[in-house]
Amino acid sequence: MTLCVFQVLCHYTTMWLTCLVSLALLNTITSAATAASADKVLSNHAAILADSSADLALSLYLNMAKGKGVENILISPVVVASSLGLVALGGKGSTTSEVKKILNAAKLQDEQLHAGFEELLSELSDPKSRNVTWKIGSRLYGPSSATFVDHFVKSSKKHYRCDHSKINFRDKKNAVKSINEWAAKSTDGKLPEVTKDVENMDGAMIINAMYFKPHWDEQFHPTMVDNRGFLVSSSYTVSLQMMHRTGLFDFYDDTTNKVYLLSMPLAHKMSTMVLIMPYHVEPLQRLEKMLNKKQLDTWMGKMKQTVVAVSLPKVSMEVSHNLQKQLQELGLTEAVNRSKADLSNISGKKDLYLSAVLHAAALEWDTHGNEIDTSIFGSDKLKNPKLFYADHPFIFLVKDKKTNSVLFIGRVVRPKGEKMRDEL
Ligand SMILES: *[C@@H]1O[C@H](CO)[C@@H](O)[C@H](O)[C@H]1NC(C)=O
Ligand SMILES: *[C@@H]1O[C@H](CO)[C@@H](O)[C@H](O)[C@H]1NC(C)=O
Ligand SMILES: *[C@@H]1O[C@H](CO)[C@@H](O)[C@H](O)[C@H]1NC(C)=O
Repeated sequence: MTLCVFQVLCHYTTMWLTCLVSLALLNTITSAATAASADKVLSNHAAILADSSADLALSLYLNMAKGKGVENILISPVVVASSLGLVALGGKGSTTSEVKKILNAAKLQDEQLHAGFEELLSELSDPKSRNVTWKIGSRLYGPSSATFVDHFVKSSKKHYRCDHSKINFRDKKNAVKSINEWAAKSTDGKLPEVTKDVENMDGAMIINAMYFKPHWDEQFHPTMVDNRGFLVSSSYTVSLQMMHRTGLFDFYDDTTNKVYLLSMPLAHKMSTMVLIMPYHVEPLQRLEKMLNKKQLDTWMGKMKQTVVAVSLPKVSMEVSHNLQKQLQELGLTEAVNRSKADLSNISGKKDLYLSAVLHAAALEWDTHGNEIDTSIFGSDKLKNPKLFYADHPFIFLVKDKKTNSVLFIGRVVRPKGEKMRDEL
């Protein structure tokens, strides 16, 4: 509204100076407002949970990467952490304390734990302060025989924005259909299928369906997009669109390990997309073997502002994982065990266990972002760029600078694209 008034003024007066001053003033006000939301400090308990999402990130990823036949990976550690919070909310006794231990939150009161997740997730997914598109649908499915206790329904809605539904798992075909329909609806149709089957018919399922679209701090030029080959392996190439841009980014060329690291800020610079890519096409196992928190910190510490010509695939990826096994390996043994689980805060009696944790996300790699700062174009600053040409498998993580949480971790191994004729 205010802007409109200024524009009208600018248009109809010759007092350009006044006009410019007014606009400058407006700019100051806007950035002050942004700064205010950026300065909002996270409560201690939310900060603990943010840290535990960062710890979960690598262990979940590495566990998943070991799996046979797993290609692309896409996990939101902070959302997985909040699913664990939901289990803690529905559990009692040791079922709940086990979850809190995995989250490094044994010291937190239950109320702090749930309020902490509520605070963290609303901060991270706020489209205004973050300028991000991140839709998160969460639902708990129980078998037809289950009842949901009122207290659980209310608190899980409030803290975890989780809704509930009973489903007749014995009618597999319809169960799968209705789960997939819900997921599509929660993600504006970006995620049409999260599951092909339901394996267990008597437990409770937690499902997350997400759609994430990074909004770059500076956009890729929308017309600088062309068809290129992506080497899934040295003998298999797919054709896809790639987007390009040159700019100043935090970058590190690890010549010892033959790895490039690049960090591309997302809008408002509160979070950043970190890309980890071997020099040449190779299976990612070599990199994954060295991937741990210490190595990651070392790499991050060595990055320096560098001119880089970046080329990234412009594709969408949809990935669905059942995290049951990964969570079990991290120590979630009671909730998933039929004879041990006590989830009676969900249903009022000891009749439920956690039979699946479906974690599905669509990520859209696109050119969209805020305007590029063109002031450095044509200057010497962009001379002799390093190349970051992502035409072969790489690992990425979306790190939140403000809260230290990890929004996403994953790898692009086999992006969508037509097979190209193999080169000789
Ligand atoms: C279980 O629910 C009751 C209220 O129905 C609540 O007082 C208690 O704190 C809950 N337990 C946990 C571990 O959340
Ligand atoms: C991000 O900011 C830009 C420019 O202010 C705006 O056009 C865009 O719609 C915003 N996107 C989201 C998801 O908030
Ligand atoms: C569930 O717990 C029981 C009792 O401790 C144990 O014997 C059984 O092996 C557990 N089941 C699984 C699948 O871990």
